[in-house]
Amino acid sequence: MDFFAKSGSSAKQRTGCAIVGVYTKGQLTQAAEELDKLGNGLISDLCKHGDFSGEAGSTLLLPSPAKMPCSRLMLVGLGDKAKLDKRTLVKALQEGMKAVSRTGAGDAISYLTHGTESLLGPRYAGRLTADAWHKASYRFLAHRTGPKPPAIKLKRLGIGMDTRSAATAALRGAEEGSAITQGMALTQDLANTAANVCTPSHLAREAQKLAKAHKSLSTEVLGPAEIHKLKMGAFQSVARGTEEPARLIVIKHRGAAASEAPIVLVGKGITFDSGGISLKPPLAMDEMKFDMNGAASVIGTMRAVALLELPINVVAVIPSCENMPSGRATKPGDIITSMSGKTIEILNTDAEGRLILCDALTYARRFKPSTIVDVATLTGACVIALGPFLTGLMSNDDGLTEELLAAGKRAGDEAWHLPLAKDYEDTLKSNFADFSNMGTREGGALIAAAFLSKFTKGQRWAHLDIAGTAWKSGTQKGSTGRPVPLLVDFLLTRAGF
Ligand code: BES
Ligand code: MN
Ligand code: ZN
Repeated sequence: MDFFAKSGSSAKQRTGCAIVGVYTKGQLTQAAEELDKLGNGLISDLCKHGDFSGEAGSTLLLPSPAKMPCSRLMLVGLGDKAKLDKRTLVKALQEGMKAVSRTGAGDAISYLTHGTESLLGPRYAGRLTADAWHKASYRFLAHRTGPKPPAIKLKRLGIGMDTRSAATAALRGAEEGSAITQGMALTQDLANTAANVCTPSHLAREAQKLAKAHKSLSTEVLGPAEIHKLKMGAFQSVARGTEEPARLIVIKHRGAAASEAPIVLVGKGITFDSGGISLKPPLAMDEMKFDMNGAASVIGTMRAVALLELPINVVAVIPSCENMPSGRATKPGDIITSMSGKTIEILNTDAEGRLILCDALTYARRFKPSTIVDVATLTGACVIALGPFLTGLMSNDDGLTEELLAAGKRAGDEAWHLPLAKDYEDTLKSNFADFSNMGTREGGALIAAAFLSKFTKGQRWAHLDIAGTAWKSGTQKGSTGRPVPLLVDFLLTRAGF
């Protein structure tokens, strides 16, 4: 999408579609009022006669009268004027973008953040407009051969703001938003791709393809022999049960001097999680193709970081393999030695994410990072705790916790702080090894984090459990692209923007 920004009156700007906000009880936003005057009270009449209620998120498309400078008019309900908040405005943006994507307009201007931008700030008005456009327009058709849905006509999207300076900030925000949504699209494409196509080798090739497209990026891909040489026994124990070769994918973004400590992002890349010998029940097992969403979101974040040319160093570390049962698969009771040297009793082969991550976290130390953030669809318990709305955030550093929580809030991709505590770690005691890979069922998300914390001693580290937020189930089934907005906002802030 080609974004632009405009300041001043909606009555003066020629466009294929003017998108304006209307409150309930016939109250109009400034942009709606200005057009209403040109149209001899067209909008206020519709409200008065009950044809448009202004209910939050409702939309109505109208051909606009010759006197208006827009070929179409899209009314978007903002709800009760006195109650307008960020949430309602974001919803209106999303519904407005969805509605305009279905029109024949080739260009449009959204005035939804005109005069309401104080709720978001002009920069985030641009950012969240780009995000809303992405949500309205993203499609995944890679596996389809049949008739395609009609192509979206809109090519240029303007953001109408009050003042010149607000318009400048909104455009910068939209450009950031565009980089973020391009990252999200890559994340979603990778995660939505079926697991028989999206294998660890496929992920590695996609990472290499991405690095080829950007000067600042480089990759290194390790295979089974190198993983063996590194003594990544925990990672290998998961990869044993499948014919698909494992990959350890490293992507580097070089934006600052080599001497500057990088931020390392670690992403869980299980391209299919059958549970292994501790086989999962069949219900919705297909969704375990999304178990590489952590990896995909880290790759998507690297794309955005490269597009934004952030002046920081970022390294992505992605352990990727399938978790499958076979005659060679790891069995419950097996004891393996992780790269750190610690031994682990595998009580449940379905708790595989922490096993590939613990070796990746140990490996991450070699980059002497300033910060490590891992991203993983790690536990069903996190889905039970937080549902599909909030990402679970656990960290051994309060400052980092605050940074990530704030980034999520700003980006509209929120996380919730959950505890890291010794009591949870104690449930991992084993009678035979240093510890086991599973504790009690209760508090499962916190136990998984406690397991990982054993491998990040002395590091500034945070863990994002995206099991609930990474994809949608049901008729809307598909990857959400989260937590790319959170991660990129965090990195933009670290880069001083
Ligand atoms: N990939 C799953 C977690 C998951 C489950 C994500 C459901 C999204 C939806 C993970 O590998 C797993 O199986 N975790 C187990 C751990 C348990 C055996 C300790 C779980 O959460 O049940
Ligand atoms: Mn599992
Ligand atoms: Zn898993």
